[in-house]
Amino acid sequence: MFISLEGIDGSGKSTQARLLAEALRGAGHDVVLTREPGGAPGAEEIRRLLVEGDPDRWSAETEILLFTAARRDHLERTIRPNLAAGKIVITDRFADSTRVYQGATRGDLRGLVDGIHALAIGMEPDLTLILDMDPEAALARGLARRSGEDRFEDFGLPFQKALRDGFHALADQFPGRCRLIDAGRAPEAIAADVLAAVQAALP
Ligand code: ADP
Ligand code: TYD
Repeated sequence: MFISLEGIDGSGKSTQARLLAEALRGAGHDVVLTREPGGAPGAEEIRRLLVEGDPDRWSAETEILLFTAARRDHLERTIRPNLAAGKIVITDRFADSTRVYQGATRGDLRGLVDGIHALAIGMEPDLTLILDMDPEAALARGLARRSGEDRFEDFGLPFQKALRDGFHALADQFPGRCRLIDAGRAPEAIAADVLAAVQAALP
């Protein structure tokens, strides 16, 4: 089973991905926890080009190509081999992030995103958990980390609001695999909803 966590910056994806992996391992499943951009050595190198530096360092079109190059490496070296070995793969972000961050915030580039995805990636998660919360609170959480990876946070609040709307639209477009989860609560309450959604989808 291939599970992705999505949402705006600071919505708690990495926290929930970790809690979900722990819960599933506790129930006896073999779990691989990974992330994008990154999740394989080459893809982690591309990550640094994307998350550091000036917001206007790359155009949205160039970002689509860089994120897709990183995703292809992640797919070849981490996602596909582990799914083939029968493991549950949980990824902190996947192609929906490109659909929203590059496809729906700086003009309508969704056609370009979908075309490149179809040619180079061509697969979707079985289940996508979208962590949904107020962008102002999420931005405060994210920037408080001072990770040095704030290129997308530095686009500011209107950008984060557009992202939230984009994720809502995706949930409407792919109701079969997407679940919206209220992420403006305590971590344990969110984790319980996340685990329930995964258990309902497990074969
Ligand atoms: P993301 O991966 O979506 O950017 P993180 O899981 O890294 O989010 O969380 C961002 C920050 O918010 C971290 O400092 C984390 O400890 C904190 N955090 C995560 N979940 C919650 C929550 N439910 N309530 C309050 N703070 C949280
Ligand atoms: P991430 O490490 O998940 O950031 P955060 O913890 O702040 O949520 O991802 C790095 C940034 O890359 C994040 O701001 C979202 C952005 N991103 C895209 O713009 N497009 C993509 O396809 C992906 C995977 C991430």
